[in-house]
Amino acid sequence: MRKQIAAANWKMNLTYQQGEQLLDDILNAKIALKDHQLTIFAVPFPYLIMANSEITDEKNYFIAAQNCYSKKSGAYTGEVSVEMLKSIGIKYCVLGHSERREYFSESNQLLAEKINICLSLDIIPIFCCGEPLAIREAGTQNSFVETQLKESLFHLSSEQLTQIIIAYEPIWAIGTGKTASTEQAQEIHAYLRSVLAKQYGKATADSISILYGGSVKSNNAKELFGCPDVDGGLVGGASLIANDFIQIIKALK
Ligand code: PGA
Repeated sequence: MRKQIAAANWKMNLTYQQGEQLLDDILNAKIALKDHQLTIFAVPFPYLIMANSEITDEKNYFIAAQNCYSKKSGAYTGEVSVEMLKSIGIKYCVLGHSERREYFSESNQLLAEKINICLSLDIIPIFCCGEPLAIREAGTQNSFVETQLKESLFHLSSEQLTQIIIAYEPIWAIGTGKTASTEQAQEIHAYLRSVLAKQYGKATADSISILYGGSVKSNNAKELFGCPDVDGGLVGGASLIANDFIQIIKALK
Protein backbone atom coordinates (compact mmCIF):
# COMPACT_ATOMS: atom_id res chain seq x y z
CA MET A 1 0.00 0.00 0.00
CA ARG A 2 1.13 3.55 -0.74
CA LYS A 3 2.24 5.57 2.29
CA GLN A 4 -0.71 7.27 3.97
CA ILE A 5 0.36 10.53 5.58
CA ALA A 6 -1.05 13.00 8.08
CA ALA A 7 1.09 16.13 7.71
CA ALA A 8 0.67 19.11 10.03
CA ASN A 9 1.54 22.52 8.65
CA TRP A 10 1.88 24.89 11.60
CA LYS A 11 2.75 27.82 9.29
CA MET A 12 3.80 30.92 11.30
CA ASN A 13 1.82 29.99 14.40
CA LEU A 14 2.50 29.09 18.05
CA THR A 15 5.28 30.07 20.42
CA TYR A 16 8.04 27.59 21.17
CA GLN A 17 6.31 26.60 24.42
CA GLN A 18 2.94 26.18 22.74
CA GLY A 19 4.53 24.08 20.02
CA GLU A 20 6.25 21.85 22.54
CA GLN A 21 2.97 21.40 24.44
CA LEU A 22 1.07 20.60 21.26
CA LEU A 23 3.58 17.90 20.29
CA ASP A 24 3.44 16.44 23.80
CA ASP A 25 -0.35 16.34 23.73
CA ILE A 26 -0.44 14.62 20.36
CA LEU A 27 2.33 12.13 21.16
CA ASN A 28 0.72 11.35 24.54
CA ALA A 29 -2.25 9.97 22.63
CA LYS A 30 0.10 7.10 21.72
CA ILE A 31 -1.37 6.46 18.32
CA ALA A 32 0.48 3.44 16.98
CA LEU A 33 1.03 4.08 13.30
CA LYS A 34 1.00 1.11 10.96
CA ASP A 35 4.01 0.50 8.71
CA HIS A 36 2.39 2.33 5.79
CA GLN A 37 1.25 5.33 7.89
CA LEU A 38 3.32 8.43 8.65
CA THR A 39 2.73 11.57 10.66
CA ILE A 40 4.84 14.60 9.78
CA PHE A 41 4.94 17.94 11.60
CA ALA A 42 6.08 20.89 9.49
CA VAL A 43 7.16 23.37 12.17
CA PRO A 44 8.83 26.81 12.11
CA PHE A 45 12.64 26.78 11.73
CA PRO A 46 13.46 27.71 15.37
CA TYR A 47 11.48 24.69 16.62
CA LEU A 48 12.97 22.02 14.34
CA ILE A 49 15.56 20.69 16.80
CA MET A 50 13.12 20.57 19.71
CA ALA A 51 10.45 18.90 17.56
CA ASN A 52 12.90 16.38 16.17
CA SER A 53 14.02 15.38 19.65
CA GLU A 54 10.37 14.97 20.73
CA ILE A 55 9.71 12.37 18.02
CA THR A 56 13.01 10.46 17.99
CA ASP A 57 11.60 7.39 19.74
CA GLU A 58 8.28 7.42 17.90
CA LYS A 59 7.85 5.04 15.00
CA ASN A 60 6.86 6.74 11.74
CA TYR A 61 6.66 10.25 13.19
CA PHE A 62 8.83 12.83 11.41
CA ILE A 63 9.57 16.55 11.33
CA ALA A 64 9.60 18.74 8.24
CA ALA A 65 10.85 22.23 7.49
CA GLN A 66 8.30 24.51 5.82
CA ASN A 67 10.75 25.85 3.25
CA CYS A 68 14.42 25.93 2.28
CA TYR A 69 16.57 27.95 -0.11
CA SER A 70 17.58 26.82 -3.57
CA LYS A 71 21.32 27.48 -3.16
CA LYS A 72 23.80 25.24 -1.37
CA SER A 73 25.32 27.90 0.91
CA GLY A 74 26.73 31.41 0.84
CA ALA A 75 25.75 35.04 1.08
CA TYR A 76 21.96 34.69 1.29
CA THR A 77 21.13 36.49 4.51
CA GLY A 78 18.06 35.16 6.24
CA GLU A 79 17.78 31.97 4.22
CA VAL A 80 18.08 28.35 5.40
CA SER A 81 19.92 25.75 3.36
CA VAL A 82 19.10 22.09 2.88
CA GLU A 83 22.52 21.21 4.25
CA MET A 84 21.59 22.98 7.49
CA LEU A 85 18.36 20.99 7.71
CA LYS A 86 20.23 17.78 7.03
CA SER A 87 22.83 18.59 9.70
CA ILE A 88 20.13 18.69 12.39
CA GLY A 89 18.52 15.45 11.23
CA ILE A 90 15.52 16.77 9.32
CA LYS A 91 14.22 14.42 6.63
CA TYR A 92 11.33 16.31 5.00
CA CYS A 93 10.72 19.77 3.58
CA VAL A 94 7.48 21.34 2.37
CA LEU A 95 8.02 23.12 -0.95
CA GLY A 96 5.82 25.38 -3.03
CA HIS A 97 3.03 25.97 -0.56
CA SER A 98 0.59 28.41 -2.16
CA GLU A 99 1.48 30.99 0.50
CA ARG A 100 5.13 30.79 -0.61
CA ARG A 101 4.07 31.07 -4.23
CA GLU A 102 1.76 34.01 -3.55
CA TYR A 103 3.60 36.09 -0.92
CA PHE A 104 7.18 35.21 -1.82
CA SER A 105 6.79 34.88 -5.59
CA GLU A 106 8.05 31.32 -5.77
CA SER A 107 7.82 30.13 -9.37
CA ASN A 108 7.63 26.60 -10.75
CA GLN A 109 11.23 27.07 -11.96
CA LEU A 110 12.54 28.10 -8.54
CA LEU A 111 10.71 25.14 -7.03
CA ALA A 112 12.40 22.80 -9.50
CA GLU A 113 15.74 24.04 -8.13
CA LYS A 114 14.58 23.56 -4.55
CA ILE A 115 13.40 20.04 -5.39
CA ASN A 116 16.82 19.25 -6.87
CA ILE A 117 18.79 20.49 -3.91
CA CYS A 118 16.55 18.62 -1.45
CA LEU A 119 16.87 15.37 -3.38
CA SER A 120 20.64 15.78 -3.69
CA LEU A 121 20.85 15.65 0.11
CA ASP A 122 18.14 13.01 0.63
CA ILE A 123 15.59 15.42 2.06
CA ILE A 124 12.13 14.38 0.92
CA PRO A 125 10.14 17.24 -0.61
CA ILE A 126 6.44 17.58 0.09
CA PHE A 127 5.62 19.40 -3.12
CA CYS A 128 2.44 21.49 -3.04
CA CYS A 129 0.33 22.33 -6.05
CA GLY A 130 -3.22 23.63 -6.49
CA GLU A 131 -5.31 26.17 -8.31
CA PRO A 132 -6.79 29.54 -7.28
CA LEU A 133 -10.56 30.10 -7.27
CA ALA A 134 -10.68 31.85 -10.66
CA ILE A 135 -9.09 28.84 -12.34
CA ARG A 136 -11.52 26.45 -10.63
CA GLU A 137 -14.45 28.63 -11.70
CA ALA A 138 -13.16 28.63 -15.27
CA GLY A 139 -12.93 24.84 -15.10
CA THR A 140 -9.26 24.77 -16.12
CA GLN A 141 -7.85 23.37 -12.86
CA ASN A 142 -6.53 20.18 -14.46
CA SER A 143 -4.25 21.89 -16.93
CA PHE A 144 -3.20 24.42 -14.27
CA VAL A 145 -1.95 21.77 -11.84
CA GLU A 146 -0.52 19.71 -14.70
CA THR A 147 1.71 22.67 -15.62
CA GLN A 148 2.85 22.98 -11.99
CA LEU A 149 3.89 19.32 -11.99
CA LYS A 150 5.54 19.51 -15.40
CA GLU A 151 7.57 22.61 -14.69
CA SER A 152 8.77 21.61 -11.24
CA LEU A 153 9.02 17.82 -11.39
CA PHE A 154 9.26 16.42 -14.91
CA HIS A 155 13.00 16.89 -15.21
CA LEU A 156 13.40 14.18 -12.54
CA SER A 157 14.16 10.53 -13.22
CA SER A 158 11.45 8.13 -12.13
CA GLU A 159 13.68 6.97 -9.32
CA GLN A 160 13.90 10.57 -8.08
CA LEU A 161 10.20 11.16 -8.53
CA THR A 162 9.35 8.24 -6.27
CA GLN A 163 11.12 10.06 -3.41
CA ILE A 164 8.60 12.89 -3.54
CA ILE A 165 5.31 13.43 -1.75
CA ILE A 166 2.75 15.58 -3.56
CA ALA A 167 0.14 17.69 -1.78
CA TYR A 168 -2.79 18.96 -3.83
CA GLU A 169 -4.16 22.06 -2.13
CA PRO A 170 -6.82 24.09 -3.92
CA ILE A 171 -6.12 27.67 -2.83
CA TRP A 172 -9.84 28.42 -2.46
CA ALA A 173 -10.03 25.74 0.24
CA ILE A 174 -7.00 26.79 2.31
CA GLY A 175 -7.99 28.36 5.61
CA THR A 176 -11.45 29.16 4.26
CA GLY A 177 -13.43 26.37 5.88
CA LYS A 178 -14.48 25.45 2.35
CA THR A 179 -13.30 21.92 1.57
CA ALA A 180 -13.22 20.30 -1.82
CA SER A 181 -15.96 17.68 -1.98
CA THR A 182 -14.79 14.09 -1.96
CA GLU A 183 -15.77 13.92 -5.64
CA GLN A 184 -13.69 17.01 -6.48
CA ALA A 185 -10.73 15.71 -4.47
CA GLN A 186 -10.83 12.21 -5.93
CA GLU A 187 -11.27 13.54 -9.47
CA ILE A 188 -8.25 15.82 -9.43
CA HIS A 189 -6.06 13.39 -7.47
CA ALA A 190 -6.82 10.72 -10.07
CA TYR A 191 -6.02 13.25 -12.77
CA LEU A 192 -2.68 14.13 -11.16
CA ARG A 193 -1.85 10.46 -10.95
CA SER A 194 -2.74 10.00 -14.62
CA VAL A 195 -0.41 12.88 -15.53
CA LEU A 196 2.39 11.16 -13.60
CA ALA A 197 1.51 7.82 -15.24
CA LYS A 198 1.71 9.32 -18.73
CA GLN A 199 5.21 10.61 -18.07
CA TYR A 200 6.63 7.92 -15.78
CA GLY A 201 4.43 4.83 -16.18
CA LYS A 202 1.65 3.46 -14.02
CA ALA A 203 3.80 1.64 -11.48
CA THR A 204 5.70 4.81 -10.58
CA ALA A 205 2.52 6.92 -10.49
CA ASP A 206 0.80 4.36 -8.28
CA SER A 207 3.63 4.47 -5.76
CA ILE A 208 3.45 8.22 -5.09
CA SER A 209 1.47 9.56 -2.14
CA ILE A 210 -0.79 12.46 -3.07
CA LEU A 211 -2.13 14.32 -0.03
CA TYR A 212 -5.15 16.60 0.00
CA GLY A 213 -4.92 19.97 1.75
CA GLY A 214 -7.47 22.72 2.31
CA SER A 215 -9.70 22.85 5.40
CA VAL A 216 -9.15 19.24 6.40
CA LYS A 217 -10.86 18.90 9.78
CA SER A 218 -11.49 16.12 12.26
CA ASN A 219 -15.02 15.72 10.90
CA ASN A 220 -14.18 15.45 7.20
CA ALA A 221 -10.79 13.70 7.23
CA LYS A 222 -12.13 10.16 7.18
CA GLU A 223 -14.29 10.80 4.14
CA LEU A 224 -11.55 12.63 2.23
CA PHE A 225 -8.85 10.09 3.09
CA GLY A 226 -11.25 7.34 2.08
CA CYS A 227 -10.99 8.38 -1.59
CA PRO A 228 -8.87 5.83 -3.46
CA ASP A 229 -6.39 8.43 -4.76
CA VAL A 230 -6.19 10.56 -1.61
CA ASP A 231 -3.32 9.35 0.56
CA GLY A 232 -3.82 11.55 3.61
CA GLY A 233 -3.71 15.29 4.17
CA LEU A 234 -1.63 18.41 4.67
CA VAL A 235 -3.43 20.17 7.48
CA GLY A 236 -3.13 23.78 8.61
CA GLY A 237 -5.65 25.14 11.11
CA ALA A 238 -6.80 21.80 12.53
CA SER A 239 -3.21 20.70 13.11
CA LEU A 240 -2.87 23.37 15.82
CA ILE A 241 -5.48 21.69 18.04
CA ALA A 242 -4.24 18.46 19.60
CA ASN A 243 -7.55 16.60 19.71
CA ASP A 244 -8.42 17.56 16.16
CA PHE A 245 -5.10 16.46 14.74
CA ILE A 246 -5.26 13.22 16.75
CA GLN A 247 -8.57 12.43 15.05
CA ILE A 248 -7.06 13.31 11.68
CA ILE A 249 -4.14 10.92 12.22
CA LYS A 250 -6.64 8.22 13.21
CA ALA A 251 -8.56 8.83 9.98
CA LEU A 252 -5.67 7.58 7.82
CA LYS A 253 -6.37 4.48 5.73
P1 PGA B 1 -5.87 24.70 6.25
O1 PGA B 1 -4.42 24.85 5.58
O2 PGA B 1 -5.98 23.26 6.72
O3 PGA B 1 -5.88 25.67 7.38
O4 PGA B 1 -6.88 25.00 5.19
C1 PGA B 1 -3.90 23.84 4.76
C2 PGA B 1 -2.54 24.24 4.25
O5 PGA B 1 -2.36 25.42 3.89
O6 PGA B 1 -1.63 23.43 4.19
